[in-house]
Amino acid sequence: MSAGLSGALPAPIRPVIAGFAGSRIREVSKIGMERPGVTALWFGEGDRPTPRFICDAAAQALAAGRTYYTSNSGTPELRQAIARYAMRLHGQKIVPERVTVTASGVNALMLIMQALVDPGDNVVMVTPVWPNCADNISVVLGGEVRRVTLAADERGWRLDLDRLFAACDGRTRAIFVNSPGNPTGWMAGAADHLALREFARKRRIWIVADEVYERIVYDRACAPSALDGASPDDPVIVVNSFSKAWCMTGWRLGWIVHPQALGETLAKLNEVNMSGPAMFAQDAGTVAIEQGEGFIREIVDDYRRAREVVVQRLGAMPRVRLARPEAAFYAFFRVDGMTDSLATAKQVLDRANVGLAPGVAFGPEGEGWLRLCFATSPQRLSDALDRLAPAFA
Ligand SMILES: Cc1ncc(COP(=O)(O)O)c(C=O)c1O
Repeated sequence: MSAGLSGALPAPIRPVIAGFAGSRIREVSKIGMERPGVTALWFGEGDRPTPRFICDAAAQALAAGRTYYTSNSGTPELRQAIARYAMRLHGQKIVPERVTVTASGVNALMLIMQALVDPGDNVVMVTPVWPNCADNISVVLGGEVRRVTLAADERGWRLDLDRLFAACDGRTRAIFVNSPGNPTGWMAGAADHLALREFARKRRIWIVADEVYERIVYDRACAPSALDGASPDDPVIVVNSFSKAWCMTGWRLGWIVHPQALGETLAKLNEVNMSGPAMFAQDAGTVAIEQGEGFIREIVDDYRRAREVVVQRLGAMPRVRLARPEAAFYAFFRVDGMTDSLATAKQVLDRANVGLAPGVAFGPEGEGWLRLCFATSPQRLSDALDRLAPAFA
């Protein structure tokens, strides 16, 4: 490697960024990504490619010359399609002006927090949580993340709303709820959403709801949402993404539903961040949302079967404590006697050639846990479980 590609910086960068450790999930995947034969269950994505009808729509858009900048809020077609989709699922009047298209869910989270958080402000967050939901606030924007941990027992996860509300003070700008949750699979109920909304209205703070897994549910068509029963001007901002329900992780396409009055702000922030996703990707997203219901049913059926296999087989390993995840496609499990989940994930990679995410990546409360993404083919899942068995015997 030539000098200058690594090592000391030629000039300083922001100390907070210099000290940023980065994602601990990537810390494991960086070691193993190129390894032959590795079964990668560390990221939140399935092994299915994007379905053909969506790829064809992108190809047609490219052939038709749909290669220009779009409005900072997204193409009119996609905003309309999302508004109709959200109305169908959540029974609310959602006009396209309440929709901002983003270059992924993670980009949506950043735009929202850029709009809300000044240095010294805080966001109260239900945890354990996917690291990107918190690092944008605490590392990049100089805000504080106040973590309120879900309680775990053998049946699953519970949120203590009183603790959540007690964590809010005069510098709280938002309560952040990721439901269905990554890594836990926990789902907020309708009563939780109602209580959160009433509290937020009263205190003049925002509810930021990350609902990228709303369709990855096993006993209904869609998870309870912060949009259910909300009026258009409630302080509710909902993040969604094409990544999970349409197998489009690599496309970097997401959206936000928000009060109409916030649209202009998000458009301005979009301009300086990404100026929106590719036009042809947005065209493909329009087709995905309008014609993708059959595909969603198909993958959820697959994930339901995979969930049972994981609950039976992983759950039966002597050192593993695992409750059946209510939603999303993760088994988040405790391992008896494990005190360093990062070291264990690296060891499992070396010995079993299976890539898992260390629980500590989801916050200090995740130490002692590991996460396995079961959105994978039955054969790969079964082989991975065979190889994992000795590690947790
Ligand atoms: C909770 C949560 N929010 C947001 C995202 C962002 O998804 P994307 O940036 O791929 O749209 C993810 C992806 O794993 C996630 O788990």
